[in-house]
Amino acid sequence: MHRWALAALIVAGLPNASFAQDAEAGKTVFHKCQVCHQIGKDAVGPNLVGVVGRKAGTEGTYNYSNAVKNSGITWDDANLDSWLQGPSKKIPGTKMLFPGLKDATDRANVIAYLKTLK
Ligand code: HEC
Repeated sequence: MHRWALAALIVAGLPNASFAQDAEAGKTVFHKCQVCHQIGKDAVGPNLVGVVGRKAGTEGTYNYSNAVKNSGITWDDANLDSWLQGPSKKIPGTKMLFPGLKDATDRANVIAYLKTLK
């Protein structure tokens, strides 16, 4: 491969390597969440509209596990990131049975998407 072609590939790859949040890409990642989360209403999991900045386990009508209810955390970027990496590691005893998103960019993007749900 020519050196210039390699350089072009590296440059083209840069946007993916950064952790800039991309809500549009996050919407696609959210397909994995929709098995359990419906926008605007409770399902297997709670309604996630307005979740960013909210105290964990406080969405009005949803029946949370005690683990989440008593966690005392607020869903800021950092807490959402570690939660989405491994829910049962973050809050042992949670009933969100999701293995987690391994890719940090996927997590950042889906958090950006959650911020658009108002
Ligand atoms: C297998 C079903 C399932 C999947 C898939 C799932 N969740 Fe959940 N989620 C739950 C359940 C159940 C809870 C409630 C947990 C509890 O009460 O212990 C929850 C809780 C949450 C909470 C905390 C809400 C609050 O009000 O405190 C967030 C945030 C969340 N999920 C985000 C996501 C995102 C983002 C994805 C996709 C990357 C996802 N979940 C995928 C079932 C799921």
